Amino acid sequence: MKLLVTGGAGFIGSNFIRHIRNTYPGYTIINLDKLTYAGNLENLKDIEESNTYHFIRGDITHPELVDGIVADGIDAIVNFAAESHVDRSIDNSRIFVETNIIGTQVLLDSALRHTVKRFLQISTDEVYGSLGETGYFTEKTPLAPNSPYSASKASADLLVRSYFETYGLPAIITRCSNNYGPFQFPEKLIPLFITNALSDCQLPLYGDGLNVRDWIFVEDHCRAVDIVLHRGRPGDVYNVGGNCEQTNRAITEHILAELEKSEELITYVKDRPGHDRRYAIDCTKLQKELSWSAKYDFTTGMKETVAWYCDNKSWWEKIKTGEYREFYERWYGDRNSL
Ligand code: NAD
Ligand code: DAU
Repeated sequence: MKLLVTGGAGFIGSNFIRHIRNTYPGYTIINLDKLTYAGNLENLKDIEESNTYHFIRGDITHPELVDGIVADGIDAIVNFAAESHVDRSIDNSRIFVETNIIGTQVLLDSALRHTVKRFLQISTDEVYGSLGETGYFTEKTPLAPNSPYSASKASADLLVRSYFETYGLPAIITRCSNNYGPFQFPEKLIPLFITNALSDCQLPLYGDGLNVRDWIFVEDHCRAVDIVLHRGRPGDVYNVGGNCEQTNRAITEHILAELEKSEELITYVKDRPGHDRRYAIDCTKLQKELSWSAKYDFTTGMKETVAWYCDNKSWWEKIKTGEYREFYERWYGDRNSL
């Protein structure tokens, strides 16, 4: 199998490439990544010398580049490439439309032109919108995205669906809940709070801190993508979740306890605009039809994650400078004085 993985230098993409390398050593992997602020080749340092792994720096919105790669005998495309951070989409949504929607359309066109056998779109539970105190998202829940990020991901999902319905492209969509684990960019809640706490900086909890997310260790998500890629039904959607609902406040307390830091580091700040209250995912379909289940419980996954950030300070200290600082100063500076 010759796999094109887009966005493979990011958090989940790099974990997925490592998972595929370890599980199917005979596969050839092409990693197409633009290396935006979130892409980092250090995430794949351990496999960069392998002769079955090839990195191409490039943008999925460029049709000629993408078509040249896909024409060269790609069997399957797994599209992780995206602008992925909700706060950035609120700050400026343009690049989200370009990468997440146009980029997906460019990949779909090439997949169709060159009769790719599988197209896997890595989507998100955020396309379903927000839940009240009860209920779960199923694959049949209507799409109701609330942020520019989730609207761009939902748009891409609709394009993928249309390429299956109209042209019979063997495309599948996965919708996963919040991932955590090694190599996650420290703008997302868990790595931001671990690294801030390690530096004795404030942990900015949005609103009342009681918004709920379902958390999954990244390796469990990667195993789900692997299973859907090989055995999923074309045209279908598969939800992926960790069955682990937590409030942001509980996550924060967990991190501080793990690092033996004071709860005085918690600062309540102004809420994220349009902040979805609760996500909870029903992934019975994936469990029953494809026999997937999460292997990591939250305590084990978090121990591994906290240990990774403690052991890899040089990875995140380098990141938390430059453009990172500019975004955070603008984001929090405008809304709160942290
Ligand atoms: P990330 O931001 O860590 O990585 C995104 C990667 O895509 C980066 O390497 C970046 O350089 C690359 N990229 C961005 N624009 C590109 C372009 N135009 N062309 C080529 N490469 C480009 O994101 P992540 O957290 O690893 O998420 C990966 C995918 O999974 C995304 O599609 C996201 O919507 C989805 N997802 C994420 C989560 C989560 O909790 N992080 C949960 C469910 C789904
Ligand atoms: O649900 C899947 C989605 O999870 C993915 O599609 C997205 O790519 C990914 O970024 C993530 O989106 P969230 O908005 O849920 O993740 P984030 O880490 O930004 O925030 C998680 C929760 O923590 C959310 O309720 C907002 C809150 N939060 C976040 C940050 C960065 C804070 O309270 N303070 C913060 O500083």
